[in-house]
Amino acid sequence: MSTNQVENSRTPAFSERQPWRTLKMTNKRLPFYFCNGAYLRADHATISVGDLGLIRGFGLFESLRTYGGKPFLLAEHLDRLFHAAKTVGLKPPMRRHGIARVVRRLLKKNRFAESLIRIVMTGGPSSALLPLGPPTLIVMADEFHPFPPWQYEKGISLMTTPLARIHPEIKSTVYFSAVVAAAQAGRRGFTEAVYVDRKGALLEGTTYNVFAVLPGPRLITPREGVLPGITADCVIALARKSELPVERRPLSRSMLRRAREMFITSSNREVIPVIRVDRVRIGDGIPGGVTQQLHAAYRAVAQNRLPP
Ligand SMILES: Cc1ncc(COP(=O)(O)O)c(C=O)c1O
Repeated sequence: MSTNQVENSRTPAFSERQPWRTLKMTNKRLPFYFCNGAYLRADHATISVGDLGLIRGFGLFESLRTYGGKPFLLAEHLDRLFHAAKTVGLKPPMRRHGIARVVRRLLKKNRFAESLIRIVMTGGPSSALLPLGPPTLIVMADEFHPFPPWQYEKGISLMTTPLARIHPEIKSTVYFSAVVAAAQAGRRGFTEAVYVDRKGALLEGTTYNVFAVLPGPRLITPREGVLPGITADCVIALARKSELPVERRPLSRSMLRRAREMFITSSNREVIPVIRVDRVRIGDGIPGGVTQQLHAAYRAVAQNRLPP
């Protein structure tokens, strides 16, 4: 290899590969992150290249947003994180109220109108398979960017994929299938990808839970093989409150064909209508009234901090 080739194929410097380099160029404010005990500007927050989260995919995370500048359902997200940590044997380096304090402090420091908060906990640096030292804890609070309005107005399409997550009940950092499936879906003209089981029944999406409105009407959403979504729980409570029956069971193909409406839920999306799954048109192929009502009810709860 000539010197020239070596020069041309050099690995870009760390700072060149960071998304915030673009932010800097557009003169946007860089957020502060909390990284292993210190509050650092995003471009200075770094962890070891030997971190088990990177090398072995041994990490957990949570993702939530603020409404009116305050984190929504933070206690529920911390519950899920700490429950997952116990399940996989990861000892959190900080207690829940400590992490909640870090979140509040970051929001104050960054002063975005609304933020997307991500809490990441990994096995920490290790040259072996198992953790050797203290875990890594990162809390990021970036400016929140809502999903495009057309998705709420027109509804989205989903491509099914047999890929799935390991330990689906846990929000681990292993989103390998999600990255592969979402890219495939995009190339094939779909908005997103959704995992199916061996029988073709829908489980959950790359980063969201799925619901169908069957005649009755009644709401169907799977319980097994999915992340227990915090938004989904809230929507289920709202549905039950409005006397819409909810059944937690697999969402088979035949149900899909009979579905009047379908929607997906996640903390950063709220509720987004689905109008097509593969070649199956859902209902009339437009967002339905039940979806719109549940979305409005969820928004009201989130914005006014009402009990669901
Ligand atoms: C795989 C998966 N399922 C479901 C969800 C929705 O969970 P929540 O409503 O708690 O954000 C997410 C959120 O990121 C997810 O990654």
